[in-house]
Amino acid sequence: MNFKITGTGSYLPNKILTNQDLSEMVDTNDEWIIQRVGVKTRHVAEEESAEDMAVAAAEKALEMSGVSASELDLIVVATFSGSTIIPSVAGVVQQRIGAVCPSFDISSACSGFIFALDTAAGFFERGKAKKALVIGTEKISKFVDWNDRNTCVIFGDGAGAAVLEEGDGYLSSYLFTKGGNDVIEIPAYGGISPFDKVEHKRSTIFMNGQETFKFAVKAITSDLMKVVHDAGLELEDIDYIVPHQANMRIIQYAVQRLKIPQEKFFVNIEKYGNTSAASVPIALDELNRSGKLKKGMSVAMSAFGGGLSSGACVLKWYI
Ligand code: UT7
Repeated sequence: MNFKITGTGSYLPNKILTNQDLSEMVDTNDEWIIQRVGVKTRHVAEEESAEDMAVAAAEKALEMSGVSASELDLIVVATFSGSTIIPSVAGVVQQRIGAVCPSFDISSACSGFIFALDTAAGFFERGKAKKALVIGTEKISKFVDWNDRNTCVIFGDGAGAAVLEEGDGYLSSYLFTKGGNDVIEIPAYGGISPFDKVEHKRSTIFMNGQETFKFAVKAITSDLMKVVHDAGLELEDIDYIVPHQANMRIIQYAVQRLKIPQEKFFVNIEKYGNTSAASVPIALDELNRSGKLKKGMSVAMSAFGGGLSSGACVLKWYI
C-alpha cells in the first residue's frame, strides 16, 4: 500500500516583480527574458518567510483533503531557504499547524519535491504513515544576487503542498544525483568559525546556465520515459505532465523529443518564474484547481536542478 494525493495547496507572496522592474535594476529587457526563459513576472517575498509560505500552502492542501493537522503522521519539507538551519522548516510548520508527528526537511534543490514525495512513499510502504504532508517552499530571493542578470531574471519565491493518504496512486518514481557538482551552487550559508582558515565564500546563487540547460533537457526526457515505462504505461497514456518550471525552452525541447502535445505539459513559468522546490507543487495545485485533472487520470511530474539532481514520478489521480 502506498499513497494517493487527496489535497493540494499553494501560496505566492504578494509582491510581483515584472521584467520591466528588473530592467531598471540590471542590463536586461522584457524581450530577452520572455524569449530565452519564458518569464513575465515572478513573486518575491517581502514579509513572508519560507515557513510562512509553507504554512499557507499546507493549510490550503489540508482543507482540500479534509485531513486535520492532528491526524498527520509525517511532514516532509523540500527547501534550501528556511529562516533557520535549526529548527527545520518542517518543525516550524508542524508547530504552527498543530501537528504531532515526525517532521524534517530534505535538500535537493529544484528536484526536492520529487525527492520528498519518494521519501514519504517509504513511510507509507513500511506502514509508518497513513496521512502525510509534503511541501516545497523557497524564499530564493534572499540568495539571488540582484546585480547578476544571468540569474536574477529567472527565480521567484513561493510554496506548494500536497496531502498524501494511503492508496495506490503512486505508480513509479526515479531519483538521480550527480553529486559534488558546481554547475549550480550557493557556496556558503553563513556561520563564521573563529578557527576557520578557509576563505569565506559568497552566499548567492551561481549557475552555469548552459551546462544546467544541457543536464535539464537530458534529465526531463530520460526520467519521464523511465517512470512512464516503469508504471507500465506508454507516453500517450499520460494525461498531464507537471514539469519543473525552469525555462520554457526546456519544456519545448521535451515536447519535441517525447512527441507529447504541448497542451499536456502544464506551464505557469510566465507568472512565477523558477521557484525551485516549490515549482512542481505550485504547478500541480494550479492544474488541480483548474478542474482539468479528473479522477483516474495519469499525471507525470519531472524536476531537475542543483546537485546536480533530477527526479520524476507517475501518479494516478484520485481527487
Ligand atoms: O532550476 C534549476 C535548473 N535551472 C535551469 O534549468 C536553467 C537552465 N539554463 C537556462 O535556463 C538558460 O541557460 C539561462 C536562461 C540561464 C540563460 O539562457 P542562455 O540562452 O543559455 O543564455 P546565455 O547564458 O548563453 O547568454 C546569451 C547572451 C549572453 O550575451 P553574449 O555573450 O552572447 O553577448 C549573455 O550575456 O545573453 C546575455 N544575457 C542576457 N541578456 C539580457 C544573459 N542574461 C541576460 C539577461 N538579459 N538577463
